[in-house]
Amino acid sequence: MERRNFIKQGCVACMAFMGAGVLLESCSPGLSLLKTTVKNKSLVVPLNKFSGTTNLLVVRGSGLENDILLVKNENSFKALNMKCTHEGVGLTATDKKIFCSAHGSVFDFNGKVLKEPALRPLTEFPTEINDDTIIIHLT
Ligand code: FES
Repeated sequence: MERRNFIKQGCVACMAFMGAGVLLESCSPGLSLLKTTVKNKSLVVPLNKFSGTTNLLVVRGSGLENDILLVKNENSFKALNMKCTHEGVGLTATDKKIFCSAHGSVFDFNGKVLKEPALRPLTEFPTEINDDTIIIHLT
């Protein structure tokens, strides 16, 4: 291979790799994402993030291995760790379900397994409503 072609193909490969990184940044298409900071082993989410009809929010805490899916139910919130209980791969949420791209497990918004090979439900973090915020406790 000529040097010029080698460099050209290398540049194309690098650009494709960078593009994949951008796609991985938002691995829950169509859902709102809140990036926030972990403080005192907690994440604080403003309640107004759930104004309107949305009942799902992806929360990305600084330094956390996986995102958290915050699900609004009537007057309570469920915070699900987006880590597959099969082999620990990060999950993707849509407005319908939560999917694992590794081996095909599917979970509902209660964290319950809808499709194996995962057998255990998703880990849930305790939540608390305090004034106009939702606090996710990372215990
Ligand atoms: S790691 Fe999710 S199904 Fe295997």
